[in-house]
Amino acid sequence: MIDDLRRLEADARAEIGRAADPDELERVRVRYLGRREGLVSALLRQLGRLSREERPAAGAEANRVKKALAGALEERSRELSAAAVSDPDRLDLTLPARGKWRGTIHPVSQVVDDIWQIFRSLGFTRARGPEVDNEWYNFVALNTPLDHPAADEQDTLYLAPGLLLRSHTSPVQIRTMEKYPPPIRIIAPGMVYRRDTYDATHTPAFAQVEGLVVDEGVTFVDFKATLAEFARRFWGPGTQVRFRPSFFPFTEPSAEVDVKRVIVREDGREEETDWIEIMGAGMVDPAVLDNVGYDSERYTGWAFGMGPARVALLRHGVRDLRLFYENDMRFLGQFT
Ligand code: DAH
Repeated sequence: MIDDLRRLEADARAEIGRAADPDELERVRVRYLGRREGLVSALLRQLGRLSREERPAAGAEANRVKKALAGALEERSRELSAAAVSDPDRLDLTLPARGKWRGTIHPVSQVVDDIWQIFRSLGFTRARGPEVDNEWYNFVALNTPLDHPAADEQDTLYLAPGLLLRSHTSPVQIRTMEKYPPPIRIIAPGMVYRRDTYDATHTPAFAQVEGLVVDEGVTFVDFKATLAEFARRFWGPGTQVRFRPSFFPFTEPSAEVDVKRVIVREDGREEETDWIEIMGAGMVDPAVLDNVGYDSERYTGWAFGMGPARVALLRHGVRDLRLFYENDMRFLGQFT
């Protein structure tokens, strides 16, 4: 019986080795290991004819052979499928292709890039500063006293006394002017942090884009003309720009800048939007220039800070800021 089993094993191994495709291999499996008709099973049915003494050894051998053949079948099956993948004749070219998954640039990053491209073409360079900053850069040097409401713990995320997550990108103005003499013409995009509740119009972390120009003879006319030119390049030639008086500690005078766009409806009708606030801006306060050691009698400048997420919201007609940050691919995938 044991000899018969071993012969069967040798035959089976040879056939497994010769099987040229999965169907043939399956036929070999059924022929030897099939539950009813399989040759191994057939042999096992004769176990009863053996003497009590012979039975255990034959049974054990039968189990070994079954296991060995199952292993050999498994291995051959793996070989065959590996060969199928690398053999061009066996590739099924009629299978529908899987769509290629492509990432997209985040809608807020797209706005930052577009803003940057426009200012770059106007001669600006890019600057950056740390997200963890101190009270000097975030407030004091920007002419904002520490008892100003913006410096309050209610609004600003402090990490340690005097150390905070920057609440705006304006500290990059100070860092840049401390490092370089005029003329300055920079754009500084980056993340900023505030103790805001997370809702449709506020997120505790958000992007800002800061701009700063300082040189001799820079006037309010340069300020208005450059920002108006930016708005027309960003939103289209028909865009109107309005400067509303405002207050920021680091600019004097200060303005809030609004745009009114012309949108073309599907039926071709042109329609004007409402005035939309896009940035805070102003002429750099001479006190700020003094704080970085610039001669405020000689140099003047202007600056602005805008929120690209708000711009992205308006651009795409999205109603809830949170959608930009929840990373739902079905949402983000629309902005290719
Ligand atoms: N830093 C201001 C804010 O976060 C925005 C701002 C206003 C920046 C006026 C400026 C500016 O550079 O001139 O609300």
